[in-house]
Formats: sequence, structure tokens, C-alpha cells
Amino acid sequence: PCIHLIAGARPNFMKIAPIVRALQADGRLAWKIIHTGQHYDRDMNEVFFEELGIPAPDVRLGCGGGSHAEQTGKIMQAYEALIATDKPAACLVVGDVNSTAACSIVAKKACVPVAHVEAGLRSGDMSMPEEINRLVTDAITDWFFVTEPSARQHLAREGKDMGAVWDVGHVMADNVLYQAEKLKLTADTSGLESDAYKRRHARYGVVTLHRPSNVDSAEALERIASVLRAVSQELPLVFPVHPRTRANIEKFGIDLGAGVELMGPQAYMSFLHLWKDALVILTDSGGLQEESTALGVPCITMRENTERPITVDEGSNVLAGTDPAVIIPLALDAIRNGGKRGRRPELWDGKSAERIVSILAERLA
Ligand code: UD1
Repeated sequence: PCIHLIAGARPNFMKIAPIVRALQADGRLAWKIIHTGQHYDRDMNEVFFEELGIPAPDVRLGCGGGSHAEQTGKIMQAYEALIATDKPAACLVVGDVNSTAACSIVAKKACVPVAHVEAGLRSGDMSMPEEINRLVTDAITDWFFVTEPSARQHLAREGKDMGAVWDVGHVMADNVLYQAEKLKLTADTSGLESDAYKRRHARYGVVTLHRPSNVDSAEALERIASVLRAVSQELPLVFPVHPRTRANIEKFGIDLGAGVELMGPQAYMSFLHLWKDALVILTDSGGLQEESTALGVPCITMRENTERPITVDEGSNVLAGTDPAVIIPLALDAIRNGGKRGRRPELWDGKSAERIVSILAERLA
């Protein structure tokens, strides 16, 4: 049986990579990698395929850009045409991006079972496009692979068949543990783009920012900029900028202050090299909350909610909200006193993809 592995946006590639490795090791299932093209800039997608050791996509749907509806619609049309001729035994989607929801709807209507990796996460925040993607995807998912107890609880509350819900840990942790080990063995890191910054700064913090609620209005972006200006008085900050965020910084004429150094989106290893040794991470990313928890790096999340509460309950993450009067003291405390280290959740042990593949192989045998 052949399964489709769907990837479209940056955070999908990190989750697909360990699944591909586990499929290769297991040998019972065939697969095809379908790249929707949601992220289309080279530094937002191609570099990840090369670095994470993911084979080149078998199919490229080439559906980048546009509004949410345009993007989702284009992906659905292209994937529908593919699935009509290809008839996979299952469609595996990861995370909560537009590609996840688009392909799961198409697969389900073609009577192809949907496996959702990272199912059941809920922020309760319906202004987040990802929350809508999560709800839509889980409404039609056949097999739920969950990363943390909160996800299991949400699925139970929503009346799902709990016999089809498996606690497998997190493929994001599989990937970061694997890549961190590889990085440790890299004697010469001078080829990584971020290395130059590390050589110039022994102590620094890392910033990432791309949520529409933080970057799409001048007011919200200026609020975060005021945090960065204040914190960077105490600690230099480095900020690899997502294309939409960069466009808005320019459009709104935002001043980030002299202590904040911007760089382009980083390849995986270069970014890992940077954040793993940061004194603190300031972010609104979902994936980075989890990756920092996996490696025990203090993380401050500049959002009002998180769909990943295990990173706060057990991990190194603090949910700070978006009020500078709250974020700034938390950041200064992390800088001066070391910040929260937490512990890695038990099932985030690097074996999650193996668990997923053996469950799928049994189901599809
Ligand atoms: C998407 C995901 C988000 C994820 C993020 C990670 C959805 C709803 N959102 O957000 O959950 O955290 O990826 O990076 O699926 N752009 C480029 N080049 C690219 C990609 C995007 O310039 O390669 C710009 C374009 O202006 C594009 C805009 O960013 O229209 C938004 O891209 P989109 O893929 O819709 O959402 P992201 O903000 O990247």
C-alpha cells in the first residue's frame, strides 16, 4: 500500500523527515511525498528538503501564494486531480497549515483514510487560521496521532472514536533531537549562515515572529517592537525574519532598535545552531515552543494562548501574552537569572515516527 505524505509549509518539512526515515527503516509501506508549494521561496522550503535529508518530492502541486481561500482552493483542485489517478491507501497530513486542511478534505471525499499527525491541539482562539484548520482536519480524520495529553482530552470531548487515538509523542522532537546530534558532530560550523553572528556575540537572544495577530497591524507590530527595543538594551537580539513580517516592518515603518539584528529566514541547521545556545527565545511560533522544550532552552511565547500547553506545564516555555509590561520583565528575568529549563515530556523520546509507522503498517496490512 502507498501512502501520501503531505507537506506544504516550513513547519511541515521537519515533521515529515522523521516519518520518511521510519518508513524507510520499516519497509512495509510505500509512500509518495506531495509538496503543495504553499511555501515557495527557496529559503522557506527547498533548503529544508536538502538539509533534513527528505527525498525530493514525488509530486509538486505548485500552489503558492494568494489569500487563504485562493491557496486552499488551488491546493484542493490540484490534489483532487492527483488523488483521482493515484488512489493512495491513506493520506497522512501533519500540523495545522492550509495544506493540511485542504488535502484532508480532498482525501476524505475520495474515500481515502486520513491520518493526522499532531491531532487534537486546540488554542480555543478562532481568530487563528490554524485553529480552523485543526478543527476542520480533525472533524474528518480517521487516525489521530497525538503529541500531548491535552490533545487526547480535546478529542474525547469532541466525541471522537478513542480507539483511533494514539499517544505517540512528537515527530518534531524526533527531528530536533536527530538534527542536534548531527550538529554536535559537525566540527566546522563556519558554513552555517548564523555562525558569523555567534562569533560576534557570546550572549544573545533569538526572536521569531509571524502570526497575523502580531504582525499584520501596525499597532500590534509596534507593541512587539517596543519589547524588542527594551530587551535589546540588555542583550543583543537576532531576528531571522519571515517574508510576511519583513514586508510589514517595511510597510509600517517600524523601528526595532539598534540592538536587534535582522537576517533572512534561516536553513534548519543554521537556525538550530543559533537558538540552541540563546539565553532566551522570544517567539510566536508553534513549532519553536516545542523544539525549545525538547532541548530545554528558555522560551517566552508572545501570544495570549497556546495549543501546546505541555510546553508550559512541563517544558521550558512561558506564555507571556502580548502586553510589553508583562513580556519585558519576564525576558529580563530570563536573561539575568537563567530562565525556565523544564523537562522533556516522556514520549518526546525520538521514537514517535517509529510508533506512527508501525500503527499505520498494521492498519494497512
Ligand atoms: C504558514 C502557516 C503557519 C505556519 C507558518 C510557518 C497557515 C494558515 N499558516 O503561515 O501556521 O506557522 O506557515 O512559516 O497555513 N510568503 C513568501 N514566501 C513564501 C511563503 C510565504 O513570501 O515562501 C509570504 C507571502 O506573502 C504569503 C504570505 O507570506 O502570501 C503568507 O504565507 P502563507 O503560507 O499563507 O502563511 P504563513 O504566514 O507563511
